[in-house]
Amino acid sequence: MTAFDVVVVGAGVTGLTVANRLHAAGLKVVVLEARDRVGGRLLTEDIEGVRLEVGGQWVSPDQAALLALIDELKLEMYSRYRAGDSIYIGRDGVRRTFAGEKFPVSDRTAAEVERLTKELDRLAAGMDPLEPWNHPDADELDRISFAAWLAEQTDDPEARDNVGLYVGPAMLTKPAHSFSALSAVLMAASAGGFSHLVDADFILDRRVVGGLQRVPLALADRLPPGTVHLDEAVTKVEWNEDGATVFTGRGSYHGRNVVMAVPPTLVSRVQYIPALPPVQAQMRQHISFGLVIKLHITYETPFWRDLGLSGTAFSPYSLVHEAYDNTNEDVEGETRGTLVGFVSDVKADSLLSLDADARRWKVLEALAAYYGEQALHPVHYYESPWVADEWTVGAFGTSFDIGSLTRYGRHLRSDVGPLSFASSDIAGLGFQHVDGAIRMGEAVAARIL
Ligand code: FDA
Repeated sequence: MTAFDVVVVGAGVTGLTVANRLHAAGLKVVVLEARDRVGGRLLTEDIEGVRLEVGGQWVSPDQAALLALIDELKLEMYSRYRAGDSIYIGRDGVRRTFAGEKFPVSDRTAAEVERLTKELDRLAAGMDPLEPWNHPDADELDRISFAAWLAEQTDDPEARDNVGLYVGPAMLTKPAHSFSALSAVLMAASAGGFSHLVDADFILDRRVVGGLQRVPLALADRLPPGTVHLDEAVTKVEWNEDGATVFTGRGSYHGRNVVMAVPPTLVSRVQYIPALPPVQAQMRQHISFGLVIKLHITYETPFWRDLGLSGTAFSPYSLVHEAYDNTNEDVEGETRGTLVGFVSDVKADSLLSLDADARRWKVLEALAAYYGEQALHPVHYYESPWVADEWTVGAFGTSFDIGSLTRYGRHLRSDVGPLSFASSDIAGLGFQHVDGAIRMGEAVAARIL
């Protein structure tokens, strides 16, 4: 058995941030990672000749911790392509183009969307995202699903469907009837307000040259050789008040502290001796991953640009509820155009019940409704496989079921003896985003130091 000051489990951005901060402070650290690579939910990969951001990719202006790290690592960024009109397909099934961030809906629906946006902004402004359970309306909002809350607020179905889209399919990637209104307000507060979530130009602002996985790759590079152990899944942790021993298939590692830098759902996959206190075990049974399929569709050219389109498309009524131009502007000589699209929650369930050819056809049909017949003829098609990946098992992140944020949330970041828990899923600001992973990593490192 090898002894360390701190054993970090997981080489995602959270774990690598912890390891970097502790190493810089002179502590002896090891990082144990189940996969054969670092980065967790960040993966930039060449797939059949197309470079794809399989996991997270966008950086928004509110992600101050991520922006500071990108700066520290001297990485460059570029803006997402957004020149031209966007597309919206409404409840009437009609495709309309529009400029700006407001969907082309009836005046009444637009007014209702604006009113709901203001109300969600007001609720989010009253929330410290690190302590959503202390919101003045926390109990009330956590007892009701976001869908039911929306139904109480407006009788306009298209306004409900649009406002629901920003938090349900687009963020928590669960149906709006399966998470609480409080979780929806947390999602908004963690991004600096609901108005930010509805603004694609804000939330999907910039990309890192070479891909966002360069952040964890650079963090791993800054650690001394041999610090990060790949292909070492942790299966058991034996702990007492003085420290813990972590077991993998290859050996055991002792640390005065152990940081479980994995999503909450995977914390419970490890055996703890003695078992974690009851509230810890209970709490994580009320947290689950959302489900979204990130689609990458590459064409010979970005043909939509010639049609005056930005590539941005939305519809709560389409299989692909949102899509964007995701062409690699940083790849020299790239003439192809890539669209990225998302199929979320119950629509993802039905898509996943089909075979590969049928799935591809359904997706292309949905894209053709947005961009026209040319969308039916890509040169490359790829579905990010997070749902079938045993070291994530879902996307983008995890969230509580109805009533559990107030019941258990305050225990999420509590240490248990020498064990700390961290991941973007339990962040306040930057919840479910790389920014939150960095904030959580820094907070745990500061506590240990
Ligand atoms: P993460 O899950 O990345 O890392 C945990 C690590 O622990 C993994 O490497 C895993 O293999 C390892 N592990 C688990 N169990 C283990 C065990 N028992 N033993 C050893 N290792 C173990 N964010 C954003 O800011 N902008 C965006 O555009 C997007 N988009 C996006 C798209 C998609 C498809 C996904 C899936 C996610 C995003 N995100 C995002 C979210 C973002 O990727 C995510 O919040 C962070 O990368 C999470 O980092 P963590 O380190 O917290 O967890």
